[in-house]
Amino acid sequence: MYLQRRNRILRSTPAIRSMVAETIITPADFIAPLFIDEGENVCTEIASMPNYFRRSIDGTLDEVKALWALGIKSVLLFIKCKDELKDNTGKEAWNKDGLMQRSIKAIKDAVPEMYVMTDVALDPYSSYGHDGIVENGEIVNDPTVEALVRMSISHAEAGADMVAPSDMMDGRIAAIREGLEQNNFTKTGIMAYSAKYASCFYGPFRDALDSAPGFGDKKTYQMDYANRIEAIKEAVMDVEEGADIVMVKPGLPYLDIVREVKNAVQVPVSVYNISGEYSMIKAAAQRGWIDENKAIMETLTSIKRAGGDLIATYFAKDAAKLIHQM
Ligand code: PBG
Repeated sequence: MYLQRRNRILRSTPAIRSMVAETIITPADFIAPLFIDEGENVCTEIASMPNYFRRSIDGTLDEVKALWALGIKSVLLFIKCKDELKDNTGKEAWNKDGLMQRSIKAIKDAVPEMYVMTDVALDPYSSYGHDGIVENGEIVNDPTVEALVRMSISHAEAGADMVAPSDMMDGRIAAIREGLEQNNFTKTGIMAYSAKYASCFYGPFRDALDSAPGFGDKKTYQMDYANRIEAIKEAVMDVEEGADIVMVKPGLPYLDIVREVKNAVQVPVSVYNISGEYSMIKAAAQRGWIDENKAIMETLTSIKRAGGDLIATYFAKDAAKLIHQM
């Protein structure tokens, strides 16, 4: 048989495969989400996220040092707010001595180079478990945006490098940028969760922070998973409003959206490989149905190939170790 082209030539040995690989993931691509709790020596495994933990600040600092040593440059902080501090205004979110603010300071003191990002949304602080303020059973946009601005400024004050609004309210990026500028936080970045879909895959995360919505769902602010063009609109608007990075979330079921957004904007695109995606791999691996390490590397490489410049992932530490072993 005579063939002009034999595509298998470039697949024939590990050497040539690695020479022509189009996508290479490195620990600097990862953002490690961290769940932080009050107390000391607290290290609670999340029931629906095997081998992922909620830690008090002391243990969090050890974790941050370990992540930095593995080449991971960024963490994304989430805190578990005590029930008695939750209300409908979310005011604990901008308490300057709140758990988030203390965590930011402690991490920046311990590992100053670590790039600290913070979740900005009211759900962990809301007695209703919603990302915004509730009036007559509705999540009201404009008062929520005011709260998010206060929250963002308070994170910046505590030393956060970048705030990451995950609430999906309209106009919040412009308002946060203006708030930061007016308060002279000209070095604080904004990573906008631009195309954040109303997804069932957030379930395990809501276990981790005890933040499930008390009534209804999040479909009046998070996006309908049937939609694609709307994701581009959201991302483009967030860039115009001042976002430094835009995000698509969840990751794996939305890689088509990642590519579309990547082609539509001139800022880095981040992708959140979310809790449900983590738990599915863990559960299948625990049953011996898939090879966990291979599933991690294939998943993260797929996300980067789709256009994800940065990947927020609960596998950050595992993947960094696997990369170092290669
Ligand atoms: C809250 C927030 C959520 C996640 C990140 N920020 C949950 C939600 O919107 O209900 C999900 C992350 C994950 O599932 O890993 N605004």
